[in-house]
Amino acid sequence: MPNRPRLIAIASGKGGVGKTWVAITLAHALAARRDSVLLFDGDLGLANVDVQLGLTPNHDLGALLTGRVPLAEAVMRHPEGGFDILAGISGSGSLSGLDPAAVERILALLRDAAGYDTVLLDLGAGLERGVRRMAAAADMLLTVATEEPTSLTDAYAVLKLYASDTRAGDARILVNQAATHAAGMRTYETLRRACTSFLRLDPPLAGIVRRDDRVRDAIRRQALLLVRHPTCQAAMDVEAIAAGLSQKVAA
Ligand SMILES: Nc1ncnc2c1ncn2[C@@H]1O[C@H](COP(=O)(O)OP(=O)(O)OP(=O)(O)O)[C@@H](O)[C@H]1O
Ligand SMILES: [Mg+2]
Repeated sequence: MPNRPRLIAIASGKGGVGKTWVAITLAHALAARRDSVLLFDGDLGLANVDVQLGLTPNHDLGALLTGRVPLAEAVMRHPEGGFDILAGISGSGSLSGLDPAAVERILALLRDAAGYDTVLLDLGAGLERGVRRMAAAADMLLTVATEEPTSLTDAYAVLKLYASDTRAGDARILVNQAATHAAGMRTYETLRRACTSFLRLDPPLAGIVRRDDRVRDAIRRQALLLVRHPTCQAAMDVEAIAAGLSQKVAA
């Protein structure tokens, strides 16, 4: 049996909480730990990853789905980050616009992506059928939440669907944009309590990323945070999360 990559889906329900940035920065941090990483931009309509990184891929998922190009040609390597990117289909609408068979084909392609340790899926906002299916099919779901009440209720909704779709899943909570570590812990505990009380799900904490102006700066410059501001708080927070998720033993 060839080794199959581990699929980690990143979802939040609510838009704008930092999924795409977390996905990119985690991909980079895992690659820096020598994980071989593919980042899939599942936010199909908006092609967020290319925009945040200022990259223009030659191919996108469409070329892959029609069989015009193999995965190895459809992906693009980030020149500094050392991870590969598979772009969504620009202007195609969201995952919900794809028929279920196409969603299954994408999942099969990602599961069979030879040579990768980890495939990160940036699922985009919302709880549509495609997002739900990909979250359920992943080996791990990272639910991104912030302290905002609407983010908490949406993250809870993501976890509720996940709990009803999967028997023995691995759902974890990542708190982003926390004012302080302690505030992030409170956000986590609030969400966790709702899950244990009503869903019989006890999601562990993947980690807390603090709110940091350098994140905005890096995104504005279409740069990787760990390159532009390698020692800032948010960079260290994401590196700590990557250390917890890495397939590789630290050197
Ligand atoms: N830790 C952080 N500190 C400060 N700002 C942050 C942090 N994380 C994200 N942001 C801000 O949040 C904005 C939205 O991030 P991002 O586009 O990654 O969110 P998203 O969840 O992918 O949004 P969408 O649902 O629209 O795809 C970023 O432009 C950035 O300014
Ligand atoms: Mg996004």
